[in-house]
Amino acid sequence: MLKPIIVVGSINLDLVVGVQRLPKPGETLTGHDFETFFGGKGANQAVAIARLGYPVQMIGRVGDDAFGPRLRGALQQAGVDVRAVRPVRGASGVALIATERGGQNSIIVVPGSNAALTPADLEPYAPRLQCAGMILCQLEIPLSTVERLAEMAGQFQVPLMLDPAPARALSSRLLRRVTWLTPNESEAVALCATSGPRPTPANAPSMADALLRRGVRNVALKLGAQGAYLANALGGVYIPAWRVTAVDCTAAGDAFNAGLAIALMEGATMGQAGRFAAAVAALSTTQPGAQPSMPTRASVRRLLKHGSPAAASLSQ
Ligand code: RIB
Repeated sequence: MLKPIIVVGSINLDLVVGVQRLPKPGETLTGHDFETFFGGKGANQAVAIARLGYPVQMIGRVGDDAFGPRLRGALQQAGVDVRAVRPVRGASGVALIATERGGQNSIIVVPGSNAALTPADLEPYAPRLQCAGMILCQLEIPLSTVERLAEMAGQFQVPLMLDPAPARALSSRLLRRVTWLTPNESEAVALCATSGPRPTPANAPSMADALLRRGVRNVALKLGAQGAYLANALGGVYIPAWRVTAVDCTAAGDAFNAGLAIALMEGATMGQAGRFAAAVAALSTTQPGAQPSMPTRASVRRLLKHGSPAAASLSQ
């Protein structure tokens, strides 16, 4: 029997405005549409895993407002085991998202109930965590909870994939407990504490080395339309992005992590896992919204078989 992946993380309602371009500081713009989607980095990763047909459980908190039951219900409907998704007093997490034509976005998250997931809340789930094949988390829940989770993962010898999003400073003590660290471009810059250029396929190896020196065992640098670079102490591999028509890049990083986790659980090499993850991420950008855009296994297989790398990635 497959050991489930357990996602410990955030659950948000995304309030999404479509704009011609993202506003500059102090500027007022008129949006052309408004929609709500189920989101949250943790919930998106869990839904992506379920949609790809892999067993997944989620540990998280929703509010006791009108959104809470809907957020939990969406996870359940997608096939996520939600027994550890509990309501707490107060508002659910929300994200205010502006999406411009071409798919780029900017996001403001108000944690709400996600901030109520404390380190002590993890203790009753120790037996489940112990039986997980892999644990995934992000940084939209309290850092103290992520740190306790990393301790538990180490104690139970379960691999931990940490998506360091949104960016913040992390201790080497925490990073040493991370099996896979998966920063995007701005998160990698923040973690390397550099004011240098943003990562590209050309400078990704040195950036990955800097992160490996901080103690993580494996790094997947998510470079957006430029692809991804995966590395560990034995070497690295560049993965071009897949050629697709992007309409909304929200949650592409979450889709990548879901694909990477599943492929690794299924025994893929680093390069194979990177290609699979990049395909899941690329497909997620072709549909609007976070959770509704997560692809099925069949569509990922089709892209892997018939798709081609994006020219932009190859020219970098
Ligand atoms: O990664 C995308 C997610 O970030 C959105 O769904 C939003 O909720 C924020 O958490």
